[in-house]
Amino acid sequence: MKKEIIITKDGAHSLYIPKINETYHSVHGAISESMHVFIKNGLNHHTQKNLNILEIGFGTGLNALLTLIHSKKKKIQYNTLEPFPISKEIYSKLNFYNLTNYNKDSFIYLHTSDWEENIKISKNFTLHKLKSKLQNFNLKKKFDIIYFDAFAPEKQPEMWTKEVFEKCYNLIGSEGFLVTYCAKGVVKRTLQSVGFEIESLVGPPGKREMIRANKTTFQK
Ligand SMILES: C[S@@+](CC[C@H](N)C(=O)[O-])C[C@H]1O[C@@H](n2cnc3c(N)ncnc32)[C@H](O)[C@@H]1O
Repeated sequence: MKKEIIITKDGAHSLYIPKINETYHSVHGAISESMHVFIKNGLNHHTQKNLNILEIGFGTGLNALLTLIHSKKKKIQYNTLEPFPISKEIYSKLNFYNLTNYNKDSFIYLHTSDWEENIKISKNFTLHKLKSKLQNFNLKKKFDIIYFDAFAPEKQPEMWTKEVFEKCYNLIGSEGFLVTYCAKGVVKRTLQSVGFEIESLVGPPGKREMIRANKTTFQK
């Protein structure tokens, strides 16, 4: 599907897909959204030092980049699923490294490094990209955090079903949780129906709420 680069309110790029009228990030700020949902309420919320993270939708690599930048005090195995990787023509133009003071070549390497392999990006961060749909992904290993960053339920309803969340529940370890930018009532109820305990948190700019779905009890 054709994708266009857009500029969101915090100056960060995102992608727009005209065919489904959907963006990869919030138009209120791609970096602000990713920092709030996945770094502040995901990565930084987990008390463990060693973290096994699963991202649903590598896309532009923004969540991976921000996790890498904020991985200093942790040791992270970052697993990310992406059935439809973006092209070189697009990732080479994205401005995230500028805005985060990160090295351009290192950002590009997140995209060009091999798939289906562990790639040591830094002392604290190992990347494992998988060219697979969540629905076809199978692994016995458990994850501490799932970054659930699929397209919105109205645009990609097959990602927000009971079957998919059941799969996520089974992929998460006992102290783990899933975070997502979405806070729809129906999504909360579906997550609850498979056993998650829901926390409704203040959302990123432009959104009232977001969800953290805990495998067991709320984490403090
Ligand atoms: C909202 S975008 C977010 C991308 C990314 N996290 C970022 O920061 O750019 C959703 C991503 O999910 C990917 N995707 C689509 N179907 C998927 C599936 N069945 N399993 C996993 N990822 C999927 C899309 O290709 C897209 O890259």
